[in-house]
Amino acid sequence: MMDPLLKAALDAREHAYAPFSNFKVGAALEDLNGRIHTGCNVENASYGLTLCAERVAVFKAISEGVGVRKFRRIAVSADAPKLTPPCGACRQILWEFCGDIEVTLVNPRGETAVWKMKDLFPEPFDVEFL
Ligand code: THU
Repeated sequence: MMDPLLKAALDAREHAYAPFSNFKVGAALEDLNGRIHTGCNVENASYGLTLCAERVAVFKAISEGVGVRKFRRIAVSADAPKLTPPCGACRQILWEFCGDIEVTLVNPRGETAVWKMKDLFPEPFDVEFL
């Protein structure tokens, strides 16, 4: 049986609005209470306004009252020849709001890879610099 967080990331991907890139991404973020917050990429004809799946999941959770760094792990789903880790902008956001959480990449064939944020984003720009 598949981990519910990975299934949630794959299901969320179905809602992706990606008519410009045709690259659909899903995300599922688990908070410390075990609640799952999902996201998908949402594109726009003005391309730069596009939001990545990971950031949609983080901002949904924060907007619903989950505290900063009160997250356990995130799963990110995409369908590409190689499993695709979060983009640089999402790594910055994930670090600030989630810290050194576990990041699981998954594709529709059920292939997975697990990372820690610290390894994906080793020298973060952090709030302590402000
Ligand atoms: N995308 C994500 O949703 N997450 C990432 O970490 C990388 C890229 C989306 C943005 C855009 O809609 C599409 O994938 C192609 O870049």
